[in-house]
Amino acid sequence: MKNKIIAGNWKMNKNRVEAEQLITQLIPLVKDTSNTVVICVPYTDLCKAVKLTKGTNIHVGAQNCHWKESGAYTGEIAPSMLTELGVEYVVIGHSERRTYFGETDETVLARTKAALQAGLKPIVCIGETLEERNGGNMEKVLSRQVTEGFKDISADELKNIVVAYEPVWAIGTGVTATDEQANDAIAYVRGVFAAKYGKEAADALYIQYGGSMNDKNAAGLLAMSQIDGGLIGGASLVAEKFAAVVNAHK
Ligand code: PGA
Repeated sequence: MKNKIIAGNWKMNKNRVEAEQLITQLIPLVKDTSNTVVICVPYTDLCKAVKLTKGTNIHVGAQNCHWKESGAYTGEIAPSMLTELGVEYVVIGHSERRTYFGETDETVLARTKAALQAGLKPIVCIGETLEERNGGNMEKVLSRQVTEGFKDISADELKNIVVAYEPVWAIGTGVTATDEQANDAIAYVRGVFAAKYGKEAADALYIQYGGSMNDKNAAGLLAMSQIDGGLIGGASLVAEKFAAVVNAHK
């Protein structure tokens, strides 16, 4: 049986003082879980987060990284700049990046490759919009995101990747996919990976659900056969709520 990977995506929230408060509150609340706990914090909180979580079961992630090691890329952060701080995970291709900052399957792949090269574990996000789902195109979109976004990812590299299935219509809206909707979509995604990498590799792959997951609905979602964890936005900003998600599945 796999454990679950529960990752908080703080997005553009929490300054250093607020981050310290949240992490300090969180540490004792999640210390007994057998699930993997990750917090993906703003760049400016990374140093503090790594320092505060040292010796605890909380892993630290960033929310993006560039595909180049250095150079004239104003405003970007190189993967090795993250590993040098002790950061272990990085969110790649979140729908907010795709929608507001022009990320494409191609840039997602480039960032993922570079992150892996540096020894980071990418949490690669995919998911359909409401329009795509209602238009009957959910499978087509997910299939394209996996096929294009993982184009030259090897089977060995896949072992270090976490996939987050996040239906765009459920992110930050308070509308969660039902347990079955989330499970079915993830089963479909796993099938696409299985076609390329084989069943064993696809079964071993961690695929999280994300989109308004919280302390109330986590137990149901995490009990589903295909759901290997969660990527949690809003509810990760309150220690008790995030801890309840972490502890919702034993
Ligand atoms: P949400 O965000 O939990 O606030 O819906 C999830 C995400 O965007 O990763």
